[in-house]
Amino acid sequence: MVAATALVSLLSLVAAGVASPVGRRDATSKVVYNGGASLASGWENWSWSVDYTFGYTGSPALPATLGSSAIQATTSAWAGISFKNSDGGFASYKTFVFWISGKSTSAFGLSIEDVSTAGSSVSLGTLSSCVGAISETSYIPCYFDLTKVAAGPAYNRLTLQAQSPDPQSVVLANLYFTTQTVAEIVDTHSFSAAAAFGSNTLLMIGTGDPTKVKVSRGSTSIGVESRYQKQETPVAGVYLRIATSWIAGSYTITHANGTFSFDIPAFNATTVNGPSYPIDRRIFGVNFPPDAKYLQDANIPLGRWGGNLMTSYNPSTYYVNSAADWYFENRISEGGLPSFLNSIIKPGSSRAVVSVPGLDWVAKGQAPCFSYSVAKYGAQQKTDPYNADAGNGVLVSNGSRIFNDPTDCYVPWSPANLTTWISTMPAAEREAVGVWTLENELDIADGTHADIMPVPMSYKSELDRLVSMAVAIRKAVPNAVIAGPTSCCFWFWWHSAAGSDDMAQHDGVGKIRWLLRNMQAYAKTNKVKLLDVLDLHFNPDTGSSSDGSDADNAIRLKNTRNWWDPTFTCLGYEGQTTVWPANETLPGKIMFIPRFRKLIAEEYPGLSLGATEWYGGQDLVGGLQAADTLGIFAREQMNVATRWYGVDYGTPTYAAYWLLLGSKGNTASPFLSKYINVPRCFNPDLAGVYFATDSKRKAGVFINKDPSKYQSWKVAGLPAGKYTLRHFGRPNTGLAEGARMTVNVTLDGGSNIVVPPYSAVYLAQI
Ligand SMILES: *[C@@H]1O[C@H](CO)[C@@H](O)[C@H](O)[C@H]1NC(C)=O
Ligand SMILES: *[C@@H]1O[C@H](CO)[C@@H](O)[C@H](O)[C@H]1NC(C)=O
Ligand SMILES: *[C@@H]1O[C@H](CO)[C@@H](O)[C@H](O)[C@H]1NC(C)=O
Ligand SMILES: *[C@@H]1O[C@H](CO)[C@@H](O)[C@H](O)[C@H]1NC(C)=O
Ligand SMILES: *[C@@H]1O[C@H](CO)[C@@H](O)[C@H](O)[C@H]1NC(C)=O
Ligand SMILES: *[C@@H]1O[C@H](CO)[C@@H](O)[C@H](O)[C@H]1NC(C)=O
Ligand SMILES: *[C@@H]1O[C@H](CO)[C@@H](O)[C@H](O)[C@H]1NC(C)=O
Repeated sequence: MVAATALVSLLSLVAAGVASPVGRRDATSKVVYNGGASLASGWENWSWSVDYTFGYTGSPALPATLGSSAIQATTSAWAGISFKNSDGGFASYKTFVFWISGKSTSAFGLSIEDVSTAGSSVSLGTLSSCVGAISETSYIPCYFDLTKVAAGPAYNRLTLQAQSPDPQSVVLANLYFTTQTVAEIVDTHSFSAAAAFGSNTLLMIGTGDPTKVKVSRGSTSIGVESRYQKQETPVAGVYLRIATSWIAGSYTITHANGTFSFDIPAFNATTVNGPSYPIDRRIFGVNFPPDAKYLQDANIPLGRWGGNLMTSYNPSTYYVNSAADWYFENRISEGGLPSFLNSIIKPGSSRAVVSVPGLDWVAKGQAPCFSYSVAKYGAQQKTDPYNADAGNGVLVSNGSRIFNDPTDCYVPWSPANLTTWISTMPAAEREAVGVWTLENELDIADGTHADIMPVPMSYKSELDRLVSMAVAIRKAVPNAVIAGPTSCCFWFWWHSAAGSDDMAQHDGVGKIRWLLRNMQAYAKTNKVKLLDVLDLHFNPDTGSSSDGSDADNAIRLKNTRNWWDPTFTCLGYEGQTTVWPANETLPGKIMFIPRFRKLIAEEYPGLSLGATEWYGGQDLVGGLQAADTLGIFAREQMNVATRWYGVDYGTPTYAAYWLLLGSKGNTASPFLSKYINVPRCFNPDLAGVYFATDSKRKAGVFINKDPSKYQSWKVAGLPAGKYTLRHFGRPNTGLAEGARMTVNVTLDGGSNIVVPPYSAVYLAQI
């Protein structure tokens, strides 16, 4: 993922009509589209689930430099805007460029592939490669760096895939490949933004002349130290050191081509001298890390192999079934779990969370194969757009579910198979597994896996399966760390899919409580340890419209209080007390960690607490929310957590992990050691402040949830000396939101720390 710069300069060039190649294309560019009713010659439309208007001239008006017209695309769930080249491909180009307009929440990921080479598809990241915020009133450029992809494949297809189940509408213009690098395109020899960080650091973004930078507070001029640290990647910029610490006031930064200004508010005091306690490093996990480098670049210690697909994982053939996610079709999981462990987890110096199959069937080693053939069972309400014979299992005739024959696409599976599989795994693979989870969302299997588990899961049947899976794993690995019940979500923490009678028949006891109570009873009676971690999935309803407005983003950022705060009423559905069981304490207040710790103490003392799926977006707000949540997990002593879904490389959410953990080769991050309990010196709706130590060094992370104002703290107890400063976010404009920036700084002790709007800043003693 590459960050791009200098939006301001680019736009001003366009506005001033400075002679420049059309939208910065030049004679060597390979054009995909530059106006008119069709793609440029040599390109084919390989899209799916997209409605197009080619030759679009509606709003917003297209600057003449970007061509005569644009492509308006409306996508449905997970659609792909996909174009294939048939005259030589684009492997020799260095950058893919296009301009986009749309809602600020637009979510697409770009991948390229060589259609003749299986497995050649590579992800180039998301729209966070675009310069500035996507808006419906203008176009912004997006630059994707092709120089980082593997040589060899004759790349000839590009796909912008919707990363949302909701319809999205975007306008794309001036799509081309160029032999220029990203830096060459955007280098305009000027600065596009300035931001204050930490104690005395000033970041100038762009490629201007740092010797011409002047800083003043009101009418007082502040010296700028001549030494500076140049930043080439991921974004051009320079870090300068000002002569005195930042204090409250209005600042003006002057450079050769203009000025920037910002206000630093009064400082809130805090002290980093509290007692410390261990951080469980398993809180810093993700789902499905794509490769080892991804794990290394953010020191991520845990990666989960789980989710709906893995319920039907056949360890002998590596086949899985995509279940209700995609027409119950079998497909191969390339290399299976051994590849995940040997090629990703182990070389990534990480450990795995592995979800074991726990229904009565796993996928047959055969594809194509699908559970609900139209030819066999009749016309269905939906069919795979690529395969009219693969239905969704619901009849058109009367809306009933089909009771299919599982042997069409599955083979039987039992707890004995589970024991055999795990005991015969090579020891080195087994040891790479840090946590085993009891299936995935067993409680809603009748929907997700209707083709093999059509009967709603009752309290009793869920318990039986959990116990038999746990016993089977324990038999193979006596010291395994076993997590369950890996419940899907709020409603099923209390209820089973078998209906409200089921709870009544169990004396009105909420389902998770009942499962824990009975698992503990079984464990005692049979003298076997069943469970080590209470694992629940959690995706709070934010009550947010995700419209990208500041007000809506504020809701998303407040929402981290659901993890801990007994005074915080959930802002969406779960905040309504009527949807809670009658006798649950503090209905409407989720306070996930304290609530479930108490439940553990009451029903199954000694268990750890985990959430192998916890949710949030990948945009800047998602990144800030992730950084805040990871800080909360450390402070509140959560044990296991893996973020769902993909934390894509290059996104702000990925930057949140890197922020706290650093990357391989850095000395270990204090955030992998002990938490320092400090006074709560902030309003949790506006900020997050968390500290850690590895006994030698202290580190702190400061998260500013305000979209436009700086925040500032006076921190006692951070010793004077050298620190690493890492940050991501939105210091004014011009810096790609997922860009991971780092610089070494010197703090003078008793330090003032300033944090730009919508940014997260990390400081660790070197
Ligand atoms: C491109 O493909 C999509 C999806 O198949 C289709 O809806 C659309 O009409 C096609 N557009 C053009 C211009 O061929
Ligand atoms: C900014 O000023 C420098 C001279 O200091 C000049 O070389 C450069 O072209 C200017 N950039 C813009 C975008 O005006
Ligand atoms: C729906 O139609 C199927 C196939 O004809 C039949 O087997 C099933 O019983 C029907 N369901 C209902 C509720 O009538
Ligand atoms: C399950 O175990 C039985 C009995 O050993 C074996 O025949 C069968 O192949 C196993 N199934 C799978 C999917 O491994
Ligand atoms: C209320 O919850 C407790 C568990 O704390 C349970 O034992 C009891 O049966 C529940 N009673 C009702 C009426 O829901
Ligand atoms: C700073 O302290 C004031 C006064 O206690 C408080 O109102 C404000 O929310 C604090 N700022 C932050 C960012 O927490
Ligand atoms: C910061 O200092 C550390 C330790 O001295 C060093 O390894 C690292 O390269 C420095 N980083 C930068 C960006 O200069």
